[in-house]
Amino acid sequence: MPDAYILGIETSCDETAAAVVRSGEEIVSNIVASQIALHQPYGGVVPELASREHLRAIVPAVRQALEKSKRTYATVDAIAVTQGPGLAGALLVGISYAKALAYALEKPLIAVNHLEGHIHSVLLEERAKGNHAVSFPVLALVVSGGHTHLYLAEKHGEGWVYENVGHTRDDAAGEAFDKTAKLLGLGYPGGPAIDRLSAYGNPTAVKFAISQMKHRDRRDLNQPESVRPHFDFSYSGIKTAVLRHVETHNMRERVEKRRKALSALAQPKLEDYLASCDQETLDLIASFQRAIVGDLVSKTLTAARACNVATLFVTGGVAANAELRRTFESEAAKEGLPAYFPSRPLSTDNAAMIAAAAYPRLLARQFANADFCAEPGLVLR
Ligand code: KG4
Ligand code: ZN
Repeated sequence: MPDAYILGIETSCDETAAAVVRSGEEIVSNIVASQIALHQPYGGVVPELASREHLRAIVPAVRQALEKSKRTYATVDAIAVTQGPGLAGALLVGISYAKALAYALEKPLIAVNHLEGHIHSVLLEERAKGNHAVSFPVLALVVSGGHTHLYLAEKHGEGWVYENVGHTRDDAAGEAFDKTAKLLGLGYPGGPAIDRLSAYGNPTAVKFAISQMKHRDRRDLNQPESVRPHFDFSYSGIKTAVLRHVETHNMRERVEKRRKALSALAQPKLEDYLASCDQETLDLIASFQRAIVGDLVSKTLTAARACNVATLFVTGGVAANAELRRTFESEAAKEGLPAYFPSRPLSTDNAAMIAAAAYPRLLARQFANADFCAEPGLVLR
C-alpha cells in the first residue's frame, strides 16, 4: 500500500489532541492542548469542565495538526478517534467531530481503544528509529492516571490481539501519584512533581508495604483464559499510609503552608517546590516513589517470566517517570529482556498514538460504523 496519512483525534480525558501520522511510523504533526491549568484548582479532572474545554479546543487542534503536517482535509486517507476507555462526555466530543469530518469528507473512520494507542506509541517510535523487528510475545505495562494494566500483545496478520494478564484492583499507579501529591499539598497532576522531588530525598527513609495479591498458580498458562493467572496491582493502601505518616509525624501544618504557597503560583518551578519542602517531606516523597516503582517493576517482571515474553513495553503517563525507566531498564537487562518506552511527550495522552494504532486497521479495512458510540469502559482484547 502507498503511504497512508491518518488524522488521529484523542479526547478521552484532559488533553485535546490531534495528529497526523504517516503509515504508522512517522509523526508528521502532533498537537496536544493540555487542560491541566483548568483542572488544577480542583486537584483533579472535572468531567463537565473537560467536555466543555474539548468542545472549545477540538477545531483549532485539528486545524493546527493539518497545517503543521502540510496536509489538507482532502489529502488525509482516514480519520481515527479514541472510542474509550475514558470520560463519556469527553470521548463524545472527539467522536462526534471525527464522525462529522469522516461523513463530510467521505473518508474512512477508525475507532481506536485508548490503551491500544498507548501500546502503539512505543511501536510508532521504534519504527521511526528503524526498528521493525520487535520480538514476540510482548508484555506491555500500560500505567497511567486511569490504568495499570498488563497485556500480552501479539501480531496476527496485519492486526493485533491482546490478552489482559493483570490490572489494578483499586487505584491506578498514576492516581496514587496524584492523590499522594494532593495530600502533601503539591498540586495537580502529582506525578511530574513527585518525580522531580524524589531525586532530593532518601528513598529508604520510610518503609511502605504494598498489598500483594494472591495469584493462581503462575506456571499454568495452559489453563482456559477465564482461570489463567493474573498479576494484579493495588495502590489504594499506600496513599492511606502516606496520610497516616503525615498525621503521626505532625506534618499537617507544613502541608497547608505548602499548598497555599504553591497554589498561589501559576506554574511552580522546581525551586518553588524545593523551597516549600523540608528534608523529612522530601524523604517521604522519595520513599513513596521507590515503593510504587519497586512494586510495578517486580510484578511486571514476575509476569514477564511466567508468560515467557521476549520484549517488554512500558507506556502511559507514569512511564515518563525517571526512576521507573531507570529501574525497568536495569532490572529487565539483568534478565536479558529488551524494555522499550515511548519518549516522554508520547508517554502521556496524545493523538499520534491513536493514528498509529489505527494504521493496521486501515490495512485490514476495519472501519467503524457511523453509529458507533463512546464506550467509557471499553475493554482491550
Ligand atoms: O496517560 P496519561 O496522560 O492519562 C491517562 O490515560 O490517565 O497519564 C496521566 C498520569 C497522571 O496520573 C500523572 O500524574 C502521571 O500520568 N504522570 C507521571 C509522570 N508524568 C505524568 N507519574 C509519575 N512520574 C511522571 N513523570
Ligand atoms: Zn492515557
